[in-house]
Amino acid sequence: MPIDFSSVCYTYSPKTPLQYEALKDINLHIDDGEFVALVGRTGCGKSTLVSHINALLVPSKGKVKVDEFVSSSDKKKRSKKISPLRKLVGLVFQFPEYQLFEETVLKDVSFGPKNFGRSKEEALEDAKEALSLVGLGESFYDRSPFELSGGEKRRVAIAGILAIHPKYLVVDEPTAGLDPLGAKEMMDLFDEIHAKGTTIILVTHDMSLVLKHADKVFVMSEGQIAKTCSPIELFKGDITQYSLQIPPFFEFAKQLKAQGMDICLDDCVDIPSLAKEIARCQNG
Ligand SMILES: Nc1ncnc2c1ncn2[C@@H]1O[C@H](COP(=O)(O)OP(=O)(O)OP(=O)(O)O)[C@@H](O)[C@H]1O
Ligand SMILES: [Mg+2]
Repeated sequence: MPIDFSSVCYTYSPKTPLQYEALKDINLHIDDGEFVALVGRTGCGKSTLVSHINALLVPSKGKVKVDEFVSSSDKKKRSKKISPLRKLVGLVFQFPEYQLFEETVLKDVSFGPKNFGRSKEEALEDAKEALSLVGLGESFYDRSPFELSGGEKRRVAIAGILAIHPKYLVVDEPTAGLDPLGAKEMMDLFDEIHAKGTTIILVTHDMSLVLKHADKVFVMSEGQIAKTCSPIELFKGDITQYSLQIPPFFEFAKQLKAQGMDICLDDCVDIPSLAKEIARCQNG
């Protein structure tokens, strides 16, 4: 069963001078097994929106449904128990330090599985497996998560969520702070997890990741969903109004097409696929 937002509004600090309406009438639908991206300029409401998927934030108006769980300000309509939702939806925060709290990396990553009923030994095994997936070996097990670099902290935070094997994986700026190779490996890992059936919700400012990995993109603007389409469709059009930048190689492909080359833009999702298209045009 999928994720559904119906007429969701969210206001920070209501009825105070700091009141701020961050989400305005959000309607969206994410099917099981999709890989979707959520994009938009800084402050448009992306992190606020994804925090509703695991009920970290509860709508001020409207409702969010994730499988059979309902989150709503109306106590009569919402699900009584939300702890199973936290196992169903793994949310990796934009700022990983918010997520880390144990004395050692291994304890931190095994906290989730233990909390969701695995024995101590099983939880440690889950943690070791997740740490290995994010590229952190044994030498990290006994280190304090607080003494790691920004990129290492992000990997630990992601491992902590992977260790609980969520059905929905929400990652908010997962590649921020990673070096280019590390970012590529992390995205490859999400592709692998996606291929095994996990639904992925990616929040990012990196449009080339959106083009390469996502099936569908939601563009947010000032607390609203301004556009829902495929990444290719988004980048074929003019996106300056959303303060987004077309991935440079895709802009190059568009320019080649404008100059008369018979490039099929639908086949250009990264540099190798563009190179193939150019070769096809030249050979044909
Ligand atoms: N705790 C809070 N109290 C009051 N306003 C908040 C709070 N958190 C966020 N906001 C405001 O809500 C709006 C949406 O914030 P949000 O963090 O969802 O944006 P975002 O799209 O994730 O931005 P970024 O790309 O910078 O991560 C912003 O204008 C922000 O200032
Ligand atoms: Mg954010």
